[in-house]
Amino acid sequence: MTENLVEDPANRIVRPPATLLVIFGASGDLTSRKLIPALCNLAEDQYLPENFIVIGSSRSKLSDDEFRAKVYEGIKRYSRRQISPEVWSKFAKNLFYQPCNGEVLSDFELLKQRMHEVSHEYKEQFNYVYYLAMAPQFFGSIASNLKEVGLIEDFGTSSRRTSVVVEKPFGHDLESARELNKIIRQSLAEEQIYRIDHYLGKETVQNILVFRFANGIFEPLWNRKYVDHIQISVCEDIGIGNRAAYFDQNGILRDIVQNHVLQMLALLCIEPPISLSDADSIRNEKAKVLRSIKRMTPEEVHKNTVRAQYTGGLIAGESIPGYCEEKDVSNDSKTETFVGLKLEIDNWRWSGVPIYIRAGKRLPKRITEITIFFIKAPDSLFKGRQVGELEHNVLSIQVQPKEGMSLRISAKPPGPRMRVRPVEMDFTYDSSFGVASPEAYERLLLDVMKGDATLFTRNDEIEESWDLLAPIFKAWSSPDAPPLKQYEAGTWGPAEADDLLKPMQHAWRKL
Ligand code: BG6
Repeated sequence: MTENLVEDPANRIVRPPATLLVIFGASGDLTSRKLIPALCNLAEDQYLPENFIVIGSSRSKLSDDEFRAKVYEGIKRYSRRQISPEVWSKFAKNLFYQPCNGEVLSDFELLKQRMHEVSHEYKEQFNYVYYLAMAPQFFGSIASNLKEVGLIEDFGTSSRRTSVVVEKPFGHDLESARELNKIIRQSLAEEQIYRIDHYLGKETVQNILVFRFANGIFEPLWNRKYVDHIQISVCEDIGIGNRAAYFDQNGILRDIVQNHVLQMLALLCIEPPISLSDADSIRNEKAKVLRSIKRMTPEEVHKNTVRAQYTGGLIAGESIPGYCEEKDVSNDSKTETFVGLKLEIDNWRWSGVPIYIRAGKRLPKRITEITIFFIKAPDSLFKGRQVGELEHNVLSIQVQPKEGMSLRISAKPPGPRMRVRPVEMDFTYDSSFGVASPEAYERLLLDVMKGDATLFTRNDEIEESWDLLAPIFKAWSSPDAPPLKQYEAGTWGPAEADDLLKPMQHAWRKL
């Protein structure tokens, strides 16, 4: 990973080699909202390769100019900052569109021809990156058609690097993830596959590694002797927008926990890797953490999981319909929009430390936070001084929206009496670095172009994640499944989510 941060002697970031990026699913939302704005922001910072070409592709029949106009609207709406007219006009000159049906081989011949046409005047050989911004059922046919027409070169033997980025969801459960992997591996080597989890591209998530391994003071405390419990919260005020067809089939456990939450947890709890500069050192350690998370028995699923769905309510004064009243959701849907879990990593470092997870849609606000509660100091010295019980030291890593960290410590307020109050020591990216963090997709797209897979999920990690959730899915679909609870939109989830923490006298952190 450090490789990406390496600067040349003139102190500039080294640009990736010449790249031709083909985005499949280019007429979709992800392309306009995230991918093209991320590329233009990279262009603003001069991080893109000197020679860089993008071809958008999907079934829609669009001309180059229509495609450019469409994505330009996306840039104006979604880019994190304004893109200058000069940068856009240079970028747009190398932006093309080629219709292609992922299941029609002859379309790939045409795509190949177009790729040659747009790149032949350059003296350099281009690496190929294919971004599959679409539903996983098309991954297999696209990969095999690309291979068939000679657009995927063998890994390790060709001088041209070919990489394929696949979006989540990677499968629906363990079996389908294995099947999907088998299909794409017929055309690609593991090293050519970049399974994206955009949370790994977030600055605060990457900072977990720096925080843990570049500070001598925390590592000795990072274990069951000093950590009382951990909480991870991924709270969103938004609902499902126009994604009912996808979300209703998946639910929040698949949508958020299987990927984003487990990846953050794995990074937080890994053993020190032998190196930060080769992808597999970190990924090996993450896979070990995921493998060590205790698989639940059916009884434990009853005790340690809560799932719920939102009913109508109010968020920021706006009236919100219940989940079952959302567009394209059936009125008897049993899909969970909130989940609470208690997990445990059963290894030497973490055994016995409860890990509480909650993720939900239509909660009061958008906030993602990882919180580590350290064991309390004994209060014997303060007894009889009306100090009350001492509080946990709490380290919170706010992933978004206020990216930063804070450490809660106890301090004495001024005055003649001995009193103890919690105070916060804060660091925010905004105030410390004075620059806005880039979007996760910027970093991840750049890494693919450089051939660095550190921030991408390896297949065994995905399988471990599905495997550890399998008993939960099984118990939830059994006849004596724990009931689906309800919570009002605009609240922090069902009351039963609090009960998960009560046996150990814990409580959700107020966010
Ligand atoms: C996506 C989920 O992976 O992450 C969405 O499919 C969710 O349901 C989104 O809203 C959240 O991403 P972020 O970056 O806004 O936290």
